[in-house]
Amino acid sequence: RKAKMSIIIERYKDKVSALPTNDDHHLCRYEGFWYCHGFWYHSKADFSVEAIMASQEDFQALPTDIFLASYPKTGTTWLKALAFAILNRTKFKTNSGSCPTHPLLTISPHDCVPFLESESFLNNPSYANGLMATHIPYTSLPKSIISSDCRIVYICRNPKDVLISFWHFLNKVRDDISTPTKLDDAFELFSKGMNAGGSFWDHMTGYYMASLERPNKVLFLKYEDLKKDTENEVKKLAKFIGNPFTEEEEYDGSVQKIIGLCGFENLSKVNKDTSKVLSDDIYFRKGIVGDSVNYLTTEMIQILDKITKEKCDGLDLSF
Ligand code: A3P
Repeated sequence: RKAKMSIIIERYKDKVSALPTNDDHHLCRYEGFWYCHGFWYHSKADFSVEAIMASQEDFQALPTDIFLASYPKTGTTWLKALAFAILNRTKFKTNSGSCPTHPLLTISPHDCVPFLESESFLNNPSYANGLMATHIPYTSLPKSIISSDCRIVYICRNPKDVLISFWHFLNKVRDDISTPTKLDDAFELFSKGMNAGGSFWDHMTGYYMASLERPNKVLFLKYEDLKKDTENEVKKLAKFIGNPFTEEEEYDGSVQKIIGLCGFENLSKVNKDTSKVLSDDIYFRKGIVGDSVNYLTTEMIQILDKITKEKCDGLDLSF
């Protein structure tokens, strides 16, 4: 597996070395966003700038493909589980009471729905089965995704909760846990947009604008709405991805079964395989709205709110 990724990293060596970099944080800037480069964690190159360049050059979308797009820590895992369960509900009979054979009861949503810019996908594109995920910003997506008119579902989340979720996540995936990242430093970088895939705000507004320009092709969801009004948001999602619930399904509780299957309580119990390099448990922390108030200072909150206000100026987008 790694051999192929090494070839990809080598293929883009010159292109990457010409990019502006921030060596303190091992980041480089490509098409207006910051990325890690090379094998950057646990000898993996997922989400690296080279992986993005390779998917831009090599990936050919089909018009029937569906993409789940997000900035990290905004609810990607939940959206993957929901979309997978909705699209496969006949095959895996979520509506027959207990469904012991459902893949989501034994494997991670991340194994059910691969990331386009991951090593496993780049090495084996055929395993996607028409449903894929990506953290690539809208303007950097492989051209064929737009030209094939593929449907894209974007999930976003309150930036303060994203920062706190990201900070916890980073400290869990670090090789060297003896020196965890301080919240002050994580805040500083996040607010400057210097995270892998950042700036968060440009990522979000890029997809938001696309959802206004191409509403039949880009659906914009919010984590907070999905929490508050799960049933209606899940029905909206099912309709958008071409698999609406029938009246009979709504009546027989199919929507609620899918919500229960993909709920935090259920999935966080399933995904505890500590034998993996990166246990899937890492994608489940608290799963609540507004947890950031327990960590951020008043000043940090004011600064983040100000950035959000400026970046969302003139957009019908608030948190
Ligand atoms: P917290 O760190 O705030 O708990 P991503 O999937 O994009 O990496 O986002 C991870 C965040 O989504 C984490 O937030 C995680 O707990 C939460 N999450 C994961 N699965 C969820 C689910 N089924 N329902 C609600 N939230 C979920």
